[in-house]
Amino acid sequence: MADNGVPESCFENLPKLVEDLDDYLEAYQAYAEFSGLKVNIYKDWARIIFEDHVVSHFTSKFPSDEIIRVLAVGSGDGKVDSCMLEQLVARYPRIHYTVVEPAKEPLEEFKALINDNRPKFDGVEFEWRNETFDDFQKLEEEKERSRGVDKERFHLIHAVHSLYYVNDLQQAQSYLRDRLVKHGALLVILLSEEAGIYRVWDRYPKLCEGSPATNLCSAHLREIYARSDTPYKFHHQSWPSDISQCFDPASIKGGRMLDFITHVRNFRQSAPEELKKSVVAFLRGLNQSDREDKMSTGGYQRDWDSMVMIK
Ligand SMILES: C[S@@+](CC[C@H](N)C(=O)[O-])C[C@H]1O[C@@H](n2cnc3c(N)ncnc32)[C@H](O)[C@@H]1O
Repeated sequence: MADNGVPESCFENLPKLVEDLDDYLEAYQAYAEFSGLKVNIYKDWARIIFEDHVVSHFTSKFPSDEIIRVLAVGSGDGKVDSCMLEQLVARYPRIHYTVVEPAKEPLEEFKALINDNRPKFDGVEFEWRNETFDDFQKLEEEKERSRGVDKERFHLIHAVHSLYYVNDLQQAQSYLRDRLVKHGALLVILLSEEAGIYRVWDRYPKLCEGSPATNLCSAHLREIYARSDTPYKFHHQSWPSDISQCFDPASIKGGRMLDFITHVRNFRQSAPEELKKSVVAFLRGLNQSDREDKMSTGGYQRDWDSMVMIK
């Protein structure tokens, strides 16, 4: 029995959400959308923090007629990307934007979002790469070897909540850093240490076992940067919320949120009773707010951190 009191057998043969990335993204949208609040939070972050940490740095280093090359890792439906793009196109009319995203449906949603926003993004040339980050690395290396071409380098590389799915964080960040032009920026967003999902996976590590997901938070990247004395700009985004829907068995959205939090497909049906009870009780605890009334909700944290490293 692990520290969480749930017998290990309860974690055997649980269907992993990431085995079907389109279904995964559907669960993520149920979890993250939160009546458009997510997009507003990222819009504000892009307007203030991204503008300050990335765009104003670019304007001091790269002329406005330069073609800005961007590599986006794990963009999903592109809603967060579009918040950053809005800031970039205001300064740089010509942008080449490569998207590495292994799930098909969200990539189509991203394309539709761009089409719906013409002519705002007319100066952006997109390259859609429907593959994993590991495949992208392999294909790029093959291309360089077979055609003898130079490494493609980017002004901006970003990975927003996607590095949980790479094999090795240390290797991924040094690969991405190497792909930057001089003065280029690597922007990574990861969950904060106090975020609900991180806390759940920390308490039930077997939920991630055997899946491509790793329980990472921003502290892991900060440790890597600290070891190599790498300076970076940091922003903590607080985002307390109420996940009471997860506790209502009739709520479809709540069910999908539980799927995403646990990364188990159809958690309500597929998890053994003991595991379900334990996870739900733990989540209820996380959902209690700090207010004096212990029954009050809204304390579940979706906090994340953005880290910008300049080469
Ligand atoms: C939590 S979602 C974040 C999506 C988007 N960046 C956002 O913040 O809304 C994680 C994204 O990483 C993608 N992903 C999963 N495995 C990946 C891999 N091996 N390489 C690149 N992206 C991956 C998923 O398909 C998904 O779009």
